[in-house]
Amino acid sequence: MASMSPPHAVACTALLLLLLVSVSPCRAASSGGSGGPSAVVLPVSIDDATRQYVTMFRQRTPQVPVKAVVDLAGATLWVDCETGFASSSYAGVPCGSKTCRLARSFACTTVCNGAPSPSCLNNTCGGFPENTVTHVTTSDNFITDVLSLPTTFRPAPGPLATAPSFLFTCAPTFLTKGLAAGATGMVSLSRARFALPTQLAATFRFSRKFALCLPPASAAGVVVFGDAPYTFQPGVDLSKSLIYTPLLVNPVSTAGASTNGDKSNEYFIGVTGIKVNGRAVRLNTTLLSIDKKGVGGTKLSTVAPYTVLETSIHKAVTDAFAKETAMIPRVPAVAPFKLCYDGSKVGGTRVGPAVPTVELVLQNEATSWVVFGANSMVATKGGALCLGVVDGGAAPRTSVVIGGHMMEDNLLEFDLEGSRLGFSSSLLFRQTNCNNFRLG
Ligand SMILES: *[C@@H]1O[C@H](CO)[C@@H](O)[C@H](O)[C@H]1NC(C)=O
Ligand SMILES: *[C@@H]1O[C@H](CO)[C@@H](O)[C@H](O)[C@H]1NC(C)=O
Repeated sequence: MASMSPPHAVACTALLLLLLVSVSPCRAASSGGSGGPSAVVLPVSIDDATRQYVTMFRQRTPQVPVKAVVDLAGATLWVDCETGFASSSYAGVPCGSKTCRLARSFACTTVCNGAPSPSCLNNTCGGFPENTVTHVTTSDNFITDVLSLPTTFRPAPGPLATAPSFLFTCAPTFLTKGLAAGATGMVSLSRARFALPTQLAATFRFSRKFALCLPPASAAGVVVFGDAPYTFQPGVDLSKSLIYTPLLVNPVSTAGASTNGDKSNEYFIGVTGIKVNGRAVRLNTTLLSIDKKGVGGTKLSTVAPYTVLETSIHKAVTDAFAKETAMIPRVPAVAPFKLCYDGSKVGGTRVGPAVPTVELVLQNEATSWVVFGANSMVATKGGALCLGVVDGGAAPRTSVVIGGHMMEDNLLEFDLEGSRLGFSSSLLFRQTNCNNFRLG
């Protein structure tokens, strides 16, 4: 980890020695490991209009709240620097610097002929911020600035931990088109070096892991970075009871812009089969593995509201589900779904509508992610209850994209050091939910 410490940590330590004071934004970075936070959090809520998951953090000098969309893909945090960006503490990342190399930047602005601003600096390296909702990518500067995150969640949002020079990518205002109202950027939770998980771990010297607990409508969820117990009211501790599956690396980048040879920054898992009501669905299993060109496989995405399945998988799963639910009265399909029921005729359980389970079988028969009604079914405005999977077409890049709805009220631990994903299945089974997460 020492080699990963960003240059600013060294600069801040030197500054502290020089001034012999310990009150400054540098404190958190320079005292990491002994007195630094062991975890920081981002609160998460869902934007009903877009079904995007949004969060809020503080940034700049003076600090202001910034709202951004949560994304398991991406390379860095990116924010709109063109409209309403004011800060006295931002700095460009010089071309050829170690940080620039670590960020795998191959873009350098040598001269910008304009008034200096975050997007117009001389000798600054840059990246390719991508709006992964609209698939629009552009290029802009890497800059650093102060970023603060809470160190506790509930009962109260607690003291802030501050990263004095957190790297992110600027973006022009147009890139925010298609994001939830008020969101001015996207928070990347990917495996990339300067995405939040690894950059925060390097800054605060805690473990390179985070847990994601996405809320359904009108509740709060959380992303927890670092080393925190996974405790929920009333007295549920999930720290020791997660099921693990390896995180796989797709050898070919799935980003809008990349260099030849770049691996994907996204999180893939090895789904080997799908069961409905305990019975295996016949699938073309070739589609479930990632081939040499990076095609196929299963990834997790917070910008896909619902799980997306390649056409033949979608048909097989939908047909199997229809067969297992022949007794439940059907209603006409409500787009984008294919299989819908009369919601008033479906019973309820603690884990949502009483329907057959869908299982994502992982590294062996005994290890599967079991999906219950709350995560498989979607209630539409007209009273229909639909199987929440959508057809991704006949030749998608990735065969199975596990979307936000399927992850809600499940705790997912992305352990980058152990290269594994821990999952809890539905928290509703344990009579709790993401809203009940406690830290501090
Ligand atoms: C970049 O350097 C050029 C030449 O020295 C100067 O004219 C220009 O104002 C500088 N631009 C910025 C944004 O500082
Ligand atoms: C299974 O999928 C692979 C990859 O798309 C394809 O090449 C192959 O023809 C498919 N097999 C069958 C039996 O459809």
